[in-house]
Amino acid sequence: MARTKIAVYPGSFDPITNGHIDLVKRTLRVFDRVIVAIASNPEKDNSLFSVEERLEMIREVFKGLGRRVQADSFEGLLVDYTERAGAEVIIRGLRAVSDFEYEFQMAMMNRGLKPNLETLFMMTGESYFYISSRLVKEVVSLGGDVSSLVPKNVLRRLKQRFQG
Ligand code: PNS
Repeated sequence: MARTKIAVYPGSFDPITNGHIDLVKRTLRVFDRVIVAIASNPEKDNSLFSVEERLEMIREVFKGLGRRVQADSFEGLLVDYTERAGAEVIIRGLRAVSDFEYEFQMAMMNRGLKPNLETLFMMTGESYFYISSRLVKEVVSLGGDVSSLVPKNVLRRLKQRFQG
């Protein structure tokens, strides 16, 4: 029987955006399962949403895809989590050239820690090149419209958080 190909897609996902969702869907063309994994660091956490809230939003978004997309969180090193999850590949999205240096550093560090794991970069869809969770939060906090950048469930929670 063929082995299940699992990819871990790590990040902060504070909150998940349409750019992340596009990336998960394209990853599913290549992998059997994707684990969307929230890196949790309670010691320096300045996130808008709690890990539980972020997990809930991700699960709501992908509920139609059954077991092919799972949401999880982890503490500690990504490479250790990836191994525990039974995956050999870490997926990261690349937007503009400005992402490259940070991503390259992380990929090299992770390779040094666990040479058996690969980091695979997917180009973000052209409609999502400029989206980031950080900018989405800033725009909503200032009253701007982000309805084309995040799914409905996320938009609802963002509005609740900033507009009460
Ligand atoms: O979406 P982000 O915030 O750019 O994701 C960064 C993330 C979560 C992938 C990175 O901070 C990470 O891997 N954190 C887990 C701790 C770890 O392994 N650090 C060493 C990375 S080289």
